[in-house]
Amino acid sequence: MPAERSRWRRFLRRWRPWRKPGHYDYDRITLSASDIEAKAYQRHLGGGAEQWDRRGRFQAFLLHTLGLQVGDRLLDAGCGPLRAGVHLIEALEPSHYCGIDFNADFIKTARHLVADNERLTAKAPRLECFADFAFQRLAAPPFDWVLAFSVLNHCDAATRRVFFGNLPGVLAPHARVVISHADWFEEGALAGTPLELMRVLRTPAALAPGLDITEWGFASPPEGKLFPIVVVTPAARAATLPR
Ligand SMILES: C[S@@+](CC[C@H](N)C(=O)[O-])C[C@H]1O[C@@H](n2cnc3c(N)ncnc32)[C@H](O)[C@@H]1O
Repeated sequence: MPAERSRWRRFLRRWRPWRKPGHYDYDRITLSASDIEAKAYQRHLGGGAEQWDRRGRFQAFLLHTLGLQVGDRLLDAGCGPLRAGVHLIEALEPSHYCGIDFNADFIKTARHLVADNERLTAKAPRLECFADFAFQRLAAPPFDWVLAFSVLNHCDAATRRVFFGNLPGVLAPHARVVISHADWFEEGALAGTPLELMRVLRTPAALAPGLDITEWGFASPPEGKLFPIVVVTPAARAATLPR
């Protein structure tokens, strides 16, 4: 297909005039085998190819700073094409990483990246494609951590309610759910769920003293939307967990 026509098709697929400016329809992105080979998926995430590696590594840094241990089980909810996943899979024991996404081509990309790298293959990560955050489908051992990095900010309030409603069924009692880009968050978001707010990180310094977020490829607050980062946990546990 001539390049001009395929550009038009891509544009029309993504063009939904009723959506707010800046809204990105991740469910509409498609990637051909040659797109995947050429890493074209990188341009669909904030920071693009230029910040890909740093923003991916940052997510592993974030979780380690919050207390992630090598033997923990992690659910990367909205894992995309493993920007962080490649680092998290390496950091955890075999089969302790699970990534889910509703975009079939992102999951295809993720599987390709794992198959192409012996070290990642040996870690046997689980990568699944489904919508509506239907975590119960995983029928997996409970997760110690859930990461939703730049995911729920792309969802509407109803989808976030589904996320928080379905999550408790797959959480260990001491689990922590780490949610970035959470300026939309209010405690009412957890109403009717057995979850409670444990911690809100409003600035880079709240995560680590002297942390320069620009070194990780993000804009400084207030321009950067990475903060607040909120940590949610099953109710009644928040007071007993180390912060
Ligand atoms: C900005 S990307 C972030 C990807 C990844 N967390 C990272 O930071 O590298 C947002 C991701 O969330 C996924 N996503 C958005 N809404 C979703 C939903 N309702 N169910 C599953 N995945 C979703 C998108 O497909 C996309 O991969």
